[in-house]
Amino acid sequence: MPPSIRRTFCFLALIGLAAMPVQAAPLAAGAVASPDRYGALAAAEVLRAGGNAADAAVATAFALAVTYPEAGNLGGGGFMTLYMNGKAYFVDYRETAPAAASAQMYLDAKGAPITDLSLTGPLAAGVPGTVKGLAEIHARFGKLSWARDMAPAIHFARDGFVVPPALVQERADEPRLSSGVANFDRYFGVMRTGAVFRQPDLAATLRRIAKNGPAEFYSGKTADLLMAQMTRGGARGLITTADLAAYKVVWREPLIADWRGYQVITAPPPSSGGIALTQLLTMKQDAAPLFKGVALNSPQYMHLVSEIEKRVFADRAEYLGDPDFVKVPAVALIDPAYLARRAGQIDPAKPSPPAAVAPGLEKPQTTHFSVVDKWGNAASNTYTLNGSFGAGVVVEGAGFLLNDEMDDFSVKPGAPNQFGVVGGAANAIAPNKRPLSSMSPTILTKDGAVAMVIGTPGGSRIFTSVFQVLADVYDFHLPLSTALAKPRFHHQLLPENTIFFEPYAPASKVLVDALRVRGYRTEDQGYNGDIEAIEIDGQTPVPAADPRGRGVGMVVR
Ligand code: DON
Repeated sequence: MPPSIRRTFCFLALIGLAAMPVQAAPLAAGAVASPDRYGALAAAEVLRAGGNAADAAVATAFALAVTYPEAGNLGGGGFMTLYMNGKAYFVDYRETAPAAASAQMYLDAKGAPITDLSLTGPLAAGVPGTVKGLAEIHARFGKLSWARDMAPAIHFARDGFVVPPALVQERADEPRLSSGVANFDRYFGVMRTGAVFRQPDLAATLRRIAKNGPAEFYSGKTADLLMAQMTRGGARGLITTADLAAYKVVWREPLIADWRGYQVITAPPPSSGGIALTQLLTMKQDAAPLFKGVALNSPQYMHLVSEIEKRVFADRAEYLGDPDFVKVPAVALIDPAYLARRAGQIDPAKPSPPAAVAPGLEKPQTTHFSVVDKWGNAASNTYTLNGSFGAGVVVEGAGFLLNDEMDDFSVKPGAPNQFGVVGGAANAIAPNKRPLSSMSPTILTKDGAVAMVIGTPGGSRIFTSVFQVLADVYDFHLPLSTALAKPRFHHQLLPENTIFFEPYAPASKVLVDALRVRGYRTEDQGYNGDIEAIEIDGQTPVPAADPRGRGVGMVVR
């Protein structure tokens, strides 16, 4: 079939699946799994006040913008997958490139990437989408008032929160925040472990947004403060008042795949996450005979999963980008016949030689939370500033951090950026375009009822992590909390024959040796994920937070 016809077919198939009628089922309680306790407290407060999953998600997102500044944000963007009244929705509030952005903007005179430029300082920032995204979600689904949903965040900003040791450590791990183009320490330099940290400027910004709505952020006083920050001290940030005024949230058809009797509702492009997760789940199922009798996380298991991941990453590098700018063959990439063919190429004995363009590493920090309400609605939200604390730029007077999401573009098509991420023309920088993401907020339903809400940070590790937890729960029948505590590993085509491990669960000598015999080298990726998930057991939600992070799971009665 010619690619253009296949693409048209894909589009129709996506719409058709998403429109299928399904029924919600009430639960015994609501629940939240949040990357910190303040985010969980915000959701619990709003659920107890009669709010639904969307209200709770809005409350948690604003709270984390205060208490989880590594990734929680007003100045970044993200994706939310929702399941409301038996229907699936996907909200794309990803940042866009400013209108003045160009494919050459991070290259020197010789055409070589100057990668620092896309990571730190105002020039690294895309046009933020979070406030508008949350506002549209609230307007469509919220039961409580906008100000009520924002109240917990305003409280944490005004009265302060107790700084956890992990937050202070995150700051210490980011020396770039001390560079001249960042002003991070002006606001956050006084954070001390165990001490109460108050953010009066941020509290005032949140109060203005609560009173005036999202227009406050995109054209009000907050917009004026953001504009002033673009050029303060001779900086040359590109975001203009016109960019802010033009920012649009996109309601996309979620990607929905059938898998083992579940509907997997997940992220479509401009995330690579949903396509990749669907490819991983389907190819593992296709390769079931090879997995028969193979123990979880044994060397052979890691080899087989790496063979699948290798193929997923080859597709990602080649085909994926913002679907409003490039034609993404979405459903062709998750076509069962195509995936069965790809799975059939797995070599059970040794690593297949790498082919096609190689992707690379992305770095922390992003954050995910999951919520369900007692009516059986669910929200799965991943949002980010990209790097830990984003561009390291605080909008002075407004107290919030700006993202460095521009680094998710291919700074130069075909050339690896500072972290080894490679992409083709599909992910080249263009005005108003969204950079390719890996974020995969996902909801599983069975017979119309929510069965699982799941997601994580981790850049290119996001969908391989979600995949491993789903395999642990549904293939190996582990309780969710046990599955989250299991070691996770990662392979992404290049570097060649390399399997990455987390500091949380380094590979033992025995494992390293067994993988070497199979043709792999091992590497510490220096970064842990942070899955926040809720499994529904009958009518009872069972939330679980990843032991790698400072997250909290809470049942809300
Ligand atoms: O959109 C993306 O895929 C990246 N900006 C996410 C970055 C991330 O997950 C880093 N977190 N650990």
